[in-house]
Amino acid sequence: MRKPIIGANWKMNLSCDEAGQLYTKMSALSELESTVDLVVFPPQPYLALLSKMNGVAIGAQNAYAPDMFGAFTGETSLMQLKDLHVNSVLVGHSERRLHFGEDTDFLVAKANTALSLGIQVFFCCGESDEIRSNGTAITFVENQLEPLLHQLNQAHCPLLVIAYEPIWAIGTGKVPSLEEIEEMHAAIRALCSRYFDQASSDAIRIVYGGSCNATNAKSIFQLPNVDGGLVGGASLQFDSFKEIIDSI
Ligand code: PGA
Repeated sequence: MRKPIIGANWKMNLSCDEAGQLYTKMSALSELESTVDLVVFPPQPYLALLSKMNGVAIGAQNAYAPDMFGAFTGETSLMQLKDLHVNSVLVGHSERRLHFGEDTDFLVAKANTALSLGIQVFFCCGESDEIRSNGTAITFVENQLEPLLHQLNQAHCPLLVIAYEPIWAIGTGKVPSLEEIEEMHAAIRALCSRYFDQASSDAIRIVYGGSCNATNAKSIFQLPNVDGGLVGGASLQFDSFKEIIDSI
């Protein structure tokens, strides 16, 4: 019913040449692939270059909102991204929350501004290992999402992708059990259905991120409430990323 979606989060990696070469390979792959939506999130300085290459969809790892222009040194606005045909943005990644102090109000404003411009939002959520161990992961993630869902315009549901990324799984090689992933995704799906009508909440895609790789992707993607993935480290090598896509 929902088309799967896979995001490649390159984070602050790759030289400009390497990014261009990897993007060219991924673009050739996406032309063959009609069963899955692909979005590449390159480092910000390469967005203009890749957008001119007219390949697979590109997204921004970050943006500033709600202001569109102004005295915000070092920031990139959503309007400037739209100018470059960048139609997706990551919001609320744990690295932004942790290292750059982005709080819920700021993240919700950013997500809503992006959606109102027609930009797809990958809204990231996920618990620390401490929260996972004390048994409150689901409540924690629900609390991260509720302020967003509360303000979300129902018409924007098809543009929303929720990325469940347990912090302790990001870049560590550790992955929750399949039962834990499915339990969390089902809880997120149930939460969405409390806010929107059936068709709208069904349109929201929920993807898994955190040490997703060529070995574990197939079993994760087969879970009923998993609609794809957000892949960091394993998206930096074409072969491993291709295997992940092939396993959807
Ligand atoms: P990882 O990163 O796949 O390297 O764990 C995922 C992410 O942070 O989006």
